[in-house]
Amino acid sequence: MSARGEPPGRSAETPHKHEDLAYFLAALCDVIAKIHTRYQGVFGRSVFVDLHAGDGGTDEDAGSPLLMAMAANAAGLRADIWCCEVYRPSYLRLQRVLGPWLTGDRVRVIPLLGDNRVTVPELLARYPTNGPAHFGLIHSDSNGAMLDVDLINRILHHPKLEKLDVLSYLAAAADYKRRWTYHPDRHFRSDIAAIEKRYGWVRRREVSWGQWIYLAQSNYDGLPNAKALGFISTVSPEGEALLTRLDLSKRERQPMLPFLATPPTAPMPNISGIQPIDGFEF
Ligand SMILES: C[S@@+](CC[C@H](N)C(=O)[O-])C[C@H]1O[C@@H](n2cnc3c(N)ncnc32)[C@H](O)[C@@H]1O
Repeated sequence: MSARGEPPGRSAETPHKHEDLAYFLAALCDVIAKIHTRYQGVFGRSVFVDLHAGDGGTDEDAGSPLLMAMAANAAGLRADIWCCEVYRPSYLRLQRVLGPWLTGDRVRVIPLLGDNRVTVPELLARYPTNGPAHFGLIHSDSNGAMLDVDLINRILHHPKLEKLDVLSYLAAAADYKRRWTYHPDRHFRSDIAAIEKRYGWVRRREVSWGQWIYLAQSNYDGLPNAKALGFISTVSPEGEALLTRLDLSKRERQPMLPFLATPPTAPMPNISGIQPIDGFEF
């Protein structure tokens, strides 16, 4: 139980998170279904990797693996859903909740008990490297811990899984803002940039006790329904401002005192390498 009396991995924010996830999955599955219709037989089963599957949720609030199974099913996809869970009681409950999906044919759920840093590489080692490529999603929901960049990239390095998009639920106010003590070399932004995907979008949800966001990443410059889902590009002015707020604490965002700033030794060249001329705006 958490300090707020909720089971591990669950809070008052969870149903909202799931609502957003359900919208995102519906939009993604719809696009994948359209690709399959257009390029009949070219791509394989969709693959959804839930790195932090949890206990399956409640009767009123389905957890992420169930949402994935339902979204894939509703879009008519053939899909494999890998569900990683390290905590045995949650895993056992998850298995019960997933019941019929475990033996599914069109949509099948593959529960993986243990640390995802062990179970996922084991599965990847057995995953066929020939045959069609797969669309789908890697979903990270690490309860406020930092992104597992290495693991996500490892999945993306599999020759048949590089098309998977990435969706991460992150708490900027948790581990990232404590990085000065524990991870001085890691930033929210550097981790986002280290995930091997070309484009990113963020969607903020303000809650009373933290700053939780969804980060979506893809190689395709067009997140389905981005605006309707409330996502903004990470390189838009609003996205940049949001990331800065999430990356730095209020104190860190204060302008540096003049005596702490390093004085420039020479005038900085502008972007094209030409020295600025006094009074002239490039
Ligand atoms: C926030 S909860 C997941 C909730 C779930 N994604 C949902 O939306 O219903 C995080 C879960 O990740 C599990 N977890 C944490 N680290 C893990 C790891 N290295 N491998 C597998 N599971 C892990 C925890 O036991 C916990 O159940």
